[in-house]
Amino acid sequence: MPASAPERGNVGYGGRPQRVAVLRCIVAAVVVTVLLAGLAVLIFWLVVRPKPIDYAVTHAVVRHFNVTPPPPDANANATASVNATFYLTFAAHNPNRRVSILYEWVEFRVLYGGGDPAQLLAVEDAPAFRQPRRNETALAVRAVARSANVSGQAARELRHDAEQGEVGVDVRMRARVQFKVAGVRTRHYDLEAFCSPVVVGLSPSAARSFQTVPCDVAIS
Ligand SMILES: *[C@@H]1O[C@H](CO)[C@@H](O)[C@H](O)[C@H]1NC(C)=O
Ligand SMILES: *[C@@H]1O[C@H](CO)[C@@H](O)[C@H](O)[C@H]1NC(C)=O
Ligand SMILES: *[C@@H]1O[C@H](CO)[C@@H](O)[C@H](O)[C@H]1NC(C)=O
Ligand SMILES: *[C@@H]1O[C@H](CO)[C@@H](O)[C@H](O)[C@H]1NC(C)=O
Repeated sequence: MPASAPERGNVGYGGRPQRVAVLRCIVAAVVVTVLLAGLAVLIFWLVVRPKPIDYAVTHAVVRHFNVTPPPPDANANATASVNATFYLTFAAHNPNRRVSILYEWVEFRVLYGGGDPAQLLAVEDAPAFRQPRRNETALAVRAVARSANVSGQAARELRHDAEQGEVGVDVRMRARVQFKVAGVRTRHYDLEAFCSPVVVGLSPSAARSFQTVPCDVAIS
């Protein structure tokens, strides 16, 4: 590194090589910094080995399912209402050896018809919980639709589904989470798991043949 600044008037001779030396020094420093940062990321990655978290709906039953159709003389925009109680088992699997998860706020929604707009049948909050490393937790969710407003079109489709003995709904889990790595908490993240289609049989025996539905996960 150049120790003394060039004297005034002396720039003509010594200035150029000196400037080149300074430039070289800066480039070297930048390269070393980038390499060290890359190495730090690589070591962190190798030590933590983050793996995606899996979510799935593993059981689903519906009880007290009832659709009130719109009045027959109503216009095309008239709404209908739905009563139902959904009992869902929602499995969260954290395969990570070094990452635990704090679920600070959890909400489940049961929706009908992926179309636009999807009809909201039921919303249910779940208690906050902490998921340790390498852990599988099953949450029992009871989501109740109490005279949920749905469009007349959705009501007709729901009644048609019910006649076939099963309804296909979507389950959306939203959560505010914090990850904990080696005792250090990360920032807060929004987590969303979307599970579709969750086909729920209306007959009591249908619960036994339920097929696990894996969920798409987005973290932002
Ligand atoms: C839904 O339940 C409410 C009372 O909780 C009742 O007034 C309404 O008639 C029910 N609707 C249907 C479709 O059963
Ligand atoms: C139904 O809704 C659409 C759009 O919201 C509106 O343009 C139309 O006038 C409504 N029809 C009736 C019969 O209210
Ligand atoms: C997962 O964590 C919960 C809460 O700490 C605990 O009750 C449960 O037994 C754990 N399950 C497994 C498979 O380790
Ligand atoms: C359902 O829709 C009707 C008619 O649009 C409205 O009067 C009623 O308040 C709505 N109910 C709920 C729970 O949003």
